[in-house]
Parts: sequence; C-alpha cells; structure tokens
Amino acid sequence: MSLLKKMNLSGNSQGPARFGICKGDEPGHLGIWGVWKDTSTEVFRVVVKANSQVSSIKVADASYTFAPAKDHSFVQSIETSQELKQFLVGSDRARSGQITFEFFLDNQKTITVTLPLAEVIKNLRGKGSKAPSQAMISEGYLAQDTSAIASIPHADLKAHSEKVKTEIAEKIRKAEEERKRLEEEKKAALAKAQAEAAAKAAKPAAAAAASAAPVDRTKPTLTPAKTAIFFGSSTGNTANIAEMLKKELGSVDYLKNITDIHPVDLTVVENIIIGVPTWHIGELQDDWAAMLPEVKALTFAGKKVAVFGLGDGKGYADTYVDGMAELLEPFEKGGAKLVGLWPTDGYDFKKSKAIRDGKFLGLVIDVENQDNLTDKRVKGWASQIQKELGL
Ligand SMILES: Cc1cc2nc3c(=O)[nH]c(=O)nc-3n(C[C@H](O)[C@H](O)[C@H](O)COP(=O)(O)O)c2cc1C
Repeated sequence: MSLLKKMNLSGNSQGPARFGICKGDEPGHLGIWGVWKDTSTEVFRVVVKANSQVSSIKVADASYTFAPAKDHSFVQSIETSQELKQFLVGSDRARSGQITFEFFLDNQKTITVTLPLAEVIKNLRGKGSKAPSQAMISEGYLAQDTSAIASIPHADLKAHSEKVKTEIAEKIRKAEEERKRLEEEKKAALAKAQAEAAAKAAKPAAAAAASAAPVDRTKPTLTPAKTAIFFGSSTGNTANIAEMLKKELGSVDYLKNITDIHPVDLTVVENIIIGVPTWHIGELQDDWAAMLPEVKALTFAGKKVAVFGLGDGKGYADTYVDGMAELLEPFEKGGAKLVGLWPTDGYDFKKSKAIRDGKFLGLVIDVENQDNLTDKRVKGWASQIQKELGL
C-alpha cells in the first residue's frame, strides 16, 4: 500500500477495490496496479481495450492473466502490443479516445477503469525514460493471454489463473536452474582458464628454474694440471699479488679467482697455491669463507699446498693475516703437504694465527704498510716455492 502511495497512480480510487495504471518498468511497458480490502477479492485477469472514434488503427483487445496476488495489492508491468503503441504514440496515432482496463475479479465481478489517452501515454514508458523502481516490485504472476485463453469464461478464471501461476512458477524455476547451470559453467570455464594461464606462466618459470638449477659444483671445470694459483680478493690486492707470482713462477697452469671455479677444481692440480686476504678482523675473505665448507669435504692427498696472505699489520695488528691459518687447515687436513713457510723478519705486527714454528705459514704481503717490500718478497717466495714445488 505504501509502495503504491509513493507512485504516480492513475485509476479509480473509490470503493473496496482500486485499480489503475502507472509507469511500466521497461520501455514499451505500461504499469497496472490494484489494491483491495476485501480478502475474497482477487484479480485474475486484466483486459486492455483501446477505443477511438477517430483512429483507423484497429487494436485487438489484449488480455493478461494474473495469478492471485498476495497482500491484496499488485503492481505489474505489462508489455503493450505494437498496435497499442502505434495507437498511442505512433505517427498516425489516435488523437482522441480512451483505454479501458477491465479487471476480472474472483467474485465474478469486473472492474473497469477507463482512462483518457493522455493519461495512458504518460504512463507508457519510453525508450530513454527512467524505470520507476517501484513498478518493478511486483507480486503475483502475470502472463499475456492468447485469444483462446482470453475467451475463458469469467467463472473459470480462477482455475485458469492457478494453472498460469504453476506454469509461470515452473518457467521461473527452470530459468533459475538454467541461470545457475550457466553460472557454474562460467565458473568452471574461468577456473580452467585460470589453471591454464597459471600452467602457462609456470612453464617458462620451470624452464628458468631448470636453467638456473644449481650447477654441480662437485664437477671440475678445469682439466688436471701441475700448478695453479687460486685466490679470493675483495678489493683487488690479492689478485695483483697472484698475478705477480704467476709471472715470477713462470710455469703456472691456472690463475683463478675462486669465484670462477668449482671447489673440486682445487683438487685437479698437484701444486695448489692459495691466496687469501684477512677481513672482518681475523676472518676469511668472503668468497673463501663461502667456499670453505665445500673445501672441507675435499681430499688433497699427495698434493702440495702453498699459501700467501695479505693483511694490514698496523690496522689489524692482533689478527694479522689470521685468515691464512683458517684457509690452510682443510687443505692440510685433506692430506696436502704444506710448503713455502716464510720468515717473519721485517714484518710489523703484534699477533698472528698464521705462524708455525716461528715462521709464517706462507708469503705475507702488507700493501698498506710495507708495499715497498712487496716486489722483493714476491720474488723471494716465488723462487723458494719453485724449488719446493719442483717447478
Ligand atoms: C674491514 C677490514 C678488516 C680487515 N681485517 C684485517 C685483519 O683482521 N687482519 C689483517 O691482517 N688485515 C685485515 N684487513 C686488511 C686487508 O686484509 C688488506 O687490506 C688486504 O690487502 C685486502 O686484500 P684484497 O684487496 O685482496 O681483499 C682488513 C681490512 C678491512 C678493510
């Protein structure tokens, strides 16, 4: 009731039952409504009739069957026929006349609402006009009748209307079923598409993962040879000394930064010369530190190892070239024989773990404080290990 009050209603507003028209909820639709007090008054049909003395357009009566509406009120949107539209708003429309709405009621009565054309045109929803939201709220069922159905006597309307109701309910149920089925189908298709897209995306990722798969660091990159210098160097000093040594020694098969080899490459030569600066206050240089666990797993039986280390005796006097000792340990434990012990004479430092039997474990170079001695020291150690290594 309150819903209908809100609407712009045309129709009869007298008596226990009131019927009328309002704006349809779709273009070309007309709204019809009814409100009644008497619970026995139910509406089963509305017949729309166009009358004009002046128009040549013949409009057949249009009949719509209702299923009983609830709550003694209804609002329905009915689709007007082409002829009726033509009659109302066409180029050769009827300029005067009326439209009659005959509401067939349960109690065998018919309520007739006759409205002037202008009133009906006002409520015929045009293409661009806004749908009245209220008119969409409709209870009960409505179907446009075929002429055969339209001829059903009033007395039989109730039964017919029940039939219509069942038919429409069935249609709605089927439509809902179909809607759900389509929705499921859509969902399944979407899930499939998503899975396919994910699989597609995963393929190059898998290929990339395969190509980025960890290389087998237990396989050597170098072929067996006699002598190699392997070094780690964070700021290049140790790399320079390694170069100098190679020059001095002459017969060195490989000069390699350890970032360019596999740990197992350390074992492919008979004479292993390793170079390491000390960093982070007594620690191994980073690349060596990273490789150390793998070095610990290797065996160096029958091999000779010589070590050279860089350090800063003034800046890090208490941890002077400590890294040499830490690096050497797995080589010696792995079976390598240490050569190249080097006197500590002339060096300026306080403490070092790289001393054995009063000598450094190998050549020590201090470019920060004694770079003037570097050349001499490199040359001296090179000639010493040449002999010890049998080069
Ligand atoms: C942060 C830092 C920490 C260092 N710690 C030590 C150390 O504990 N003992 C040492 O003898 N030298 C130490 N050094 C000196 C380096 O070993 C030295 O600079 C060396 O030449 C660097 O060699 P590289 O350029 O090959 O990495 C340290 C240097 C820096 C910058």
